[in-house]
Amino acid sequence: MLRFLTAGESHGKGLVAILEGMVSGLNLDVKKIDLELIRRQGGAGRGGRMKIERDRAEILSGVKGNKTIGSPIAVLIKNKDYKIEKLPAVYSPRPGHADLAGVLKYGFDDIRCVLERASARETAARTAVGAICKMLLAEFKIKINSSICQIGGVYNYSDIKRKINEAKKNKDTLGGVFEVRAFNLPIGLGSYVHCDRRLDGRLSAAVMSIPAVKAVEIGLGFGYAGQFGSGVHDAIYYDKKHNFYRKTNNAGGLEGGVTNGQPLVIRACMKPISTVGNALPSVNMLNKKASKAAVERYDTCAVEACSVVAEAVIAFELANAFLEKFGSDSLKELSTNYSNYIKKDR
Ligand SMILES: Cc1cc2nc3c(=O)[nH]c(=O)nc-3n(C[C@H](O)[C@H](O)[C@H](O)COP(=O)(O)O)c2cc1C
Repeated sequence: MLRFLTAGESHGKGLVAILEGMVSGLNLDVKKIDLELIRRQGGAGRGGRMKIERDRAEILSGVKGNKTIGSPIAVLIKNKDYKIEKLPAVYSPRPGHADLAGVLKYGFDDIRCVLERASARETAARTAVGAICKMLLAEFKIKINSSICQIGGVYNYSDIKRKINEAKKNKDTLGGVFEVRAFNLPIGLGSYVHCDRRLDGRLSAAVMSIPAVKAVEIGLGFGYAGQFGSGVHDAIYYDKKHNFYRKTNNAGGLEGGVTNGQPLVIRACMKPISTVGNALPSVNMLNKKASKAAVERYDTCAVEACSVVAEAVIAFELANAFLEKFGSDSLKELSTNYSNYIKKDR
């Protein structure tokens, strides 16, 4: 079983991720983690923080001579913007954030104690974990990519640019929809036998757990609702060359919670960034008087970054399911198990 934990605050010393359960013998290229971290920092509409931070991963454990040794892999991403002890207290919760619920739940006055951890800065740690999982999947030619479907209700690049500029000018924010795809997945990852082993549920939960993601759909998703069954289920064909195959992929690569050999297709909606420059109405936590919500430095739009994080969390879930199916402690043994399964006469 693969598992991970992250720790760290937005303006703390740094973020730490520990990935446990990775096989030994995997070539771990730190530059590939850095590339994913840089991708997460990019995209149209990003704010000031991205100019300060150039995220770099430092491997603290679990690797010797660039190869994993089976022990927990700890990754550190230092915050160049470390100043948590010097930042002012915050008393006006921002709508759309964990601010209000967080202070009431944990018993603080200062919202900073909430927002520092609730910040999407944590997704840098998850991106690092996903980058390592992508390296494992790449050994089996499994590739993951993503693209933007729409931002703020517009679809083409020039309209998106214009819309983001408009939002920036008005001190407003935008969300959108992105799509993640994974290719060359073997048939049989996940299982229908119990709810918590269904890969559709695990993938959806992983993507939904990214801050600001509000909807996830697999394959045709909501598009199924208005269709006849005869028109949407992917008919099954067989020939010697292609084995079992489909001409359509409305299921998005999953049937019964199990990969079916088709590309995995997951779309998600990210809500507009919650911190709005033209601050929304709120209430001061100390005197309970009406006030404007606090404004922390913010992105106008982070849909592209969110899609990179989604690739990462999907990579983790797929790597975990892959290890469950072909499970072993070393890459060599894993490769043997995989080849034996793939070669099986069907
Ligand atoms: C990559 C990424 C960057 C984000 N940047 C910001 C930001 O700059 N300002 C902000 O207020 N929210 C930002 N968010 C979104 C908030 O973290 C999110 O609105 C908040 O956690 C509440 O969302 P929830 O209700 O889905 O948890 C970002 C989210 C992601 C995934």
